[in-house]
Amino acid sequence: MQPVTLPEVRKLERAEWPTYRALRLRALADSPDAFGSTLAIEQGLSEEHWSTRLARGVTSELDLPLVAEVRREAAGLVWARVDAADPSIVSIYQMWVAPEFRRHGAGRMLLRAAVEWARSLNAKSVQLGVTCGDTPAVRLYTREGFTPVGPRESLRPGSPLAGQTMRLHLTEGAA
Ligand SMILES: CC(C)(COP(=O)(O)OP(=O)(O)OC[C@H]1O[C@@H](n2cnc3c(N)ncnc32)[C@H](O)[C@@H]1OP(=O)(O)O)[C@@H](O)C(=O)NCCC(=O)NCCS
Repeated sequence: MQPVTLPEVRKLERAEWPTYRALRLRALADSPDAFGSTLAIEQGLSEEHWSTRLARGVTSELDLPLVAEVRREAAGLVWARVDAADPSIVSIYQMWVAPEFRRHGAGRMLLRAAVEWARSLNAKSVQLGVTCGDTPAVRLYTREGFTPVGPRESLRPGSPLAGQTMRLHLTEGAA
């Protein structure tokens, strides 16, 4: 039996915007119902937009763009950000793992790295928006302790899909 290679998670580097763009566009193409943004919107963005977006993310203390890798191949993405209006909240965006790398722990590792970062900032909670349903994403978040808060709302204007905020409360000294 082949030994399983565990995914590794690290912060993206400024020069890696083509990798970030490729992951993000693949995520939007693969999982259009999982995100508020769309492939149509993001594939029209310029190279300058992508390089600036990532450069801002990697240099800001309020952002954490992470990549998961398996044998050095980019396998997944998450972007954590301190809420602009309430710095006690860290929000999670863009969570996606490539289909060929799913169920090997990359999603959990990305999520835990973002939660760990939130703890290091003394945030009180971590939150995210997820499409409602019995999906791998909802299972992952539930398994990691996130619970639904607030009403269900349309995923994006005109969409029949509902989205839900889920939140993890970070308590002092918790693992
Ligand atoms: C959600 C997603 C990121 C999970 O990534 P992943 O690397 O496959 O997840 P993991 O292997 O770390 O799984 C962690 C846990 O989540 C749950 N889970 C993940 N995928 C699941 C599935 N297909 N069925 C049931 N439970 C699942 C399980 O509890 C799992 O733990 P276990 O394997 O020990 O049982 C991935 O399925 C994905 O990219 N989906 C499409 C995009 C998306 O929905 N993004 C979320 C936007 S909010």
